[in-house]
Amino acid sequence: KYQVPTAFYEVFSEIEPALAFIARHGAPIVVKADGLAAGKGVIVARSNEEASEAVRDMLSGNAFGAAGSRVVIEEFLEGEEASFLAFTDGKVIIPLASAQDHKPVFDNDEGPNTGGMGAYSPAPVVTPEIHEQAMHLVMRRTVDGMAAEGRPYRGVLYAGLMIKDGQVKTLEFNARFGDPECQPLLMRLKSDLVPVLLACARGDLSGIELEWHDQAAVCVVMASGGYPGDFAKGFPIDGLEQAAAIDDLVVFHAGTAQQGGRFVNSGGRVLGVTGRGPTVAAAIDKAYQGVRAISWEGAHYRTDIGRKALTRG
Ligand code: GLY
Repeated sequence: KYQVPTAFYEVFSEIEPALAFIARHGAPIVVKADGLAAGKGVIVARSNEEASEAVRDMLSGNAFGAAGSRVVIEEFLEGEEASFLAFTDGKVIIPLASAQDHKPVFDNDEGPNTGGMGAYSPAPVVTPEIHEQAMHLVMRRTVDGMAAEGRPYRGVLYAGLMIKDGQVKTLEFNARFGDPECQPLLMRLKSDLVPVLLACARGDLSGIELEWHDQAAVCVVMASGGYPGDFAKGFPIDGLEQAAAIDDLVVFHAGTAQQGGRFVNSGGRVLGVTGRGPTVAAAIDKAYQGVRAISWEGAHYRTDIGRKALTRG
């Protein structure tokens, strides 16, 4: 409606028309649950069979419950993803620094998608030209569109972008910070966050400017073995004190709990181990120094977080 660039798509709540759409367009194709699914409701299907099975699972209610009662089937977009976040008071838009997430569970972007296995900032894929497109074609049109709909948006708006051949398309929006993008972004933010959030809530961001550390930051997510599928909980986590002693490193807790005075894993994504350094390469080293200090039974993490930033040169 507001010409925000996106993939070609259709929405379905019945199985047969959805299967016909898949047969017509063919794989690769993307099947999305049209509701909240903890970041796991997107199936990038490599075959028509895989796409059809995802549709049947979602629309029959077996996968994601009510969140899967409608599905969006979308053209498969190639390219490199980036996360573009901005603060807005419903009129003024202040972009955050660029960031990139790593959604698949295994190295080299293999395996099923997760909520995010690691992120870094800045992301060189967001060139000044891409930044301009994201601001004008995605953020401005969305914020103005929401205001025109009588639902002005205030807060953090997150656009998941796909970038190819200098063109931006929108994959998704989140009405929140990204996890794990938030961790490196806030490690780089010099400004006090509270006045910025208050200004969003009060509807007046004019006069607010964000200051950033020049340094890069990288977050490596440590997950429970088996995530994003089933995983066992309750394993004691070792090495948190050693990691806490490392400079320019913060271990953000996500899926942890305390049992008998010890931290144990209690969720899929357990820790966001986030390092800062003068370059992305240095921040990667710092984050993995922290990761190597920490262990529990079955702990899993990607070993290539941030590599895409390095191979761009
Ligand atoms: N990292 C993706 C998200 O927060 O949705």
